[in-house]
Amino acid sequence: MDVDTGIDDALALIVAATLGEQFDLLAVTTVAGNADLAAVTRNTRAVLGLLNRSDISVAAGAATPLLRPLRTAPHIHGPGGLGTIDPDALTPRPAALYPESAAEVIARLARTRPGEITIIATGPLTNLALALRMDPPLASRLAEIVIMGGAITVPGNASPVAEANFLTDPEAARIVLSSGIPVTLVPLDVTERVRIDRTGLDNLRQRAHQRGSTVGRFAADVLAFYLRAYEQHRQAGAALHDPLAVALLARPDLGTADPLHVQIAVADPLTAGQCIVDRRPIPPEQILPSNVRCYLQVAAEAARDFILDLLLGPPGVGNA
Ligand code: BDR
Ligand code: CA
Repeated sequence: MDVDTGIDDALALIVAATLGEQFDLLAVTTVAGNADLAAVTRNTRAVLGLLNRSDISVAAGAATPLLRPLRTAPHIHGPGGLGTIDPDALTPRPAALYPESAAEVIARLARTRPGEITIIATGPLTNLALALRMDPPLASRLAEIVIMGGAITVPGNASPVAEANFLTDPEAARIVLSSGIPVTLVPLDVTERVRIDRTGLDNLRQRAHQRGSTVGRFAADVLAFYLRAYEQHRQAGAALHDPLAVALLARPDLGTADPLHVQIAVADPLTAGQCIVDRRPIPPEQILPSNVRCYLQVAAEAARDFILDLLLGPPGVGNA
């Protein structure tokens, strides 16, 4: 997984770890996005420690986007990325750090296990773009990249037309989407429909309490901050963006993915990070061949319930 942890990235890590045997989670790489690189790396190592997965190492990646200054999101994720939670207080055993960079680890693992690795990317795509630049054959060695990013038929969430991960590093998004790697896109069109509200949060907290699940309590604590942030922006319910990307990889039946040709605008500040899709009613042969499978439909309630169950953490982990 390539993450910018970030509240919903932390939830995505919990979902992946709780799915257990369905995912052989090999490594986690970090990229600056929701908070700066030091913070997202500290958060990621702490969440893996909380999940009792200190066996998985973390590689720190890009501290800034390829060409632009970093834009963080303290208003949604808190100043350090996990609301008001101090990651150092979460676990005595944070996951270890690789000596190599994220791009180096991605390239090395793909070289040793060609055709076997799927990357779930829930932050800006800077590390993947750097890895492709460093080692072009990487494109033919990855099985798939599942990306939480983009907005196809809906408005953006970080500009009128762009989703936050793509707006933060549009050049990287363009490089990855034109790399030839099989890409599955999980855009705002579906993630904004899968939301947790006050009732869902109370329910999660209660179940975490009943089970004595420290993982579930942590999920409820960060979600309380995240939900308040959404409510301050006059939105009822908070979108479960990143965990949905993991959920759809495990349960593709929860949505419908269509082949699309998606290009990323980079030049004009007004449109940077926008997904350009040719939706004109023209003969199919005039439409460019697809470069992504893109989820545009989701069974929203079923997906939300699937995710909320997994947020209680793996059985036996952190259960008091
Ligand atoms: C995406 O942007 C980040 O703030 C979230 O973690 C998620 O990956 C949603 O647009
Ligand atoms: Ca993210």
